[in-house]
Amino acid sequence: MSVIENSKVTVVGAGSVGSSVAYAALIRGSARHVALYDINTAKVDAEVLDLAHGTLFTGSSDISGGSDVSVAEGSHVVVITAGAKQNPGQSRIELAGVNAGILRKMLPQLLEVAPDAVYVIVTNPCDVLTVLAQEDTGLPPERLFASGTVLDTSRLRWKLAHRAGVATSSVHAYIIGEHGDTEFALWSHASIGTVPLLEWESDGHPRMTVDELDAITVDVRDSAYKVIQGKGATNYAIGLSSARIIEAILRDENAVLPVSTVLQDFHGIDGVALSVPSIVNSRGAFPIRQTPFSPNELALLRRSADALREVASSLR
Ligand code: LAC
Repeated sequence: MSVIENSKVTVVGAGSVGSSVAYAALIRGSARHVALYDINTAKVDAEVLDLAHGTLFTGSSDISGGSDVSVAEGSHVVVITAGAKQNPGQSRIELAGVNAGILRKMLPQLLEVAPDAVYVIVTNPCDVLTVLAQEDTGLPPERLFASGTVLDTSRLRWKLAHRAGVATSSVHAYIIGEHGDTEFALWSHASIGTVPLLEWESDGHPRMTVDELDAITVDVRDSAYKVIQGKGATNYAIGLSSARIIEAILRDENAVLPVSTVLQDFHGIDGVALSVPSIVNSRGAFPIRQTPFSPNELALLRRSADALREVASSLR
């Protein structure tokens, strides 16, 4: 994939997620310049060095970084991963207080050096933090959004592809709502190729049942807990998901991705950030208003909204 001339993304936070975002962006050639910023000098310098040592093999993207916010100067995209991570069994929402504080401190400094960037919040709980960050910065909702359920949708498509015996890219299904415990699958328009999901069958892959789809949804929703239990964090898949979002922005793709923006009069939902299929391009992310929802899906979306609205109010 060609790298956009002089495109720059800064990844904030050199922990396992931020370093994985930078690594994925280098390997995929998501941007011409990848910068990594963290207040921990020793850590960020070591991560940048380790990444730089591999750039012979990563095409034309280059890596820089450090612990001075000036490394983010002139970024077109800023991806924020800094903050406390989930401990085994801990929900993303439990991180809200401490991570809201970190974000509130960091954003003004970043906006000083990258005033025109598109901001992508990965730090959890990403939906709640997006509402607070958008209110604090006054950036238009399209220009500050969260990675949301892009990762969850990838998990869903991987599971469905494996169950149906097809390529992941041929599964068309989304997880939407909260990037968290109230997320749900948009089954009403899910398909494999042009075949509605529940009608798909092929050799050795009998039709799926509604119960199976419900079980798959639970498995996807709880995926992070499972990975964190085993290795202490999730990083590779969120790194790749974030790189995909960076590309859609820098290449002005108008790609449909389930990112999380602060919704405004979206099927009656206002002032809450939730993932719905959105158009992502160089100006940011725009929820697709004509996305069809079944009455049950709309009820689930509103349930997600209510859960998150409460958390955001407790942090103001
Ligand atoms: C996960 C983290 C990124 O779902 O929230 O893996």
